[in-house]
Amino acid sequence: MKFFVDTADIDAIRELNDMGFVDGVTTNPSLIKKSGRDILEVIKEICDLVDGPVSGEVVATDYEGMIAEGNKLAEISDQIAIKVPLTIDGLKACKTFSEEGKMVNVTLCFSANQALLAAKAGATFISPFIGRLDDLNLDGMDLIEDIRTIYDNYGFDTQILAASIRSANHMSDAAKIGADVATAPPAVIKAMANHVLTDKGLAQFVQDAKDADIKIV
Ligand code: E4P
Repeated sequence: MKFFVDTADIDAIRELNDMGFVDGVTTNPSLIKKSGRDILEVIKEICDLVDGPVSGEVVATDYEGMIAEGNKLAEISDQIAIKVPLTIDGLKACKTFSEEGKMVNVTLCFSANQALLAAKAGATFISPFIGRLDDLNLDGMDLIEDIRTIYDNYGFDTQILAASIRSANHMSDAAKIGADVATAPPAVIKAMANHVLTDKGLAQFVQDAKDADIKIV
């Protein structure tokens, strides 16, 4: 499973990228707002920093507006995946961009039918939002499973990009189902390293090394 980092925070991306954990980056208007940066500038900086797809989201909601904004974003780098919402206009824009050979990430997916349409429209990535479904007492992971089944049934090559990930368990659950990619905030990716028994075991080893005066260098 590829790891995308879901942030526009350059320092956080750099830290994880240096550790080899960044196969791509996703942003959205809320993350750009949080960064306090100009969207075109920050996305260019991200493209210069990492290898792999960088999702930049359009803010227009009509087809013509999405096409104009998507083309502007795509000028930044070949790494750009133009992120469009899962609406009829977004699907039309997806088809246009994919026919032009541009990468497209169709976002705000909450049903298997939406994912089926995105694949038919030539999406490179479909972004089902796990956490926001869980927030409604639904099971976001069931959606990932349904999309995996449907895409495998028909050989669609649209990649399932598990999004709105809130916990380390979401990462392993998405991997078990076979999501192609998971995008998560930096804190969630780091939290994957945590285990209480690791902390406990390390504390014991540190104490024993001290007691026995073990020195290596
Ligand atoms: C990524 O592409 C999505 O925009 C993001 O994962 C949404 O996450 P949220 O539901 O935590 O805002």
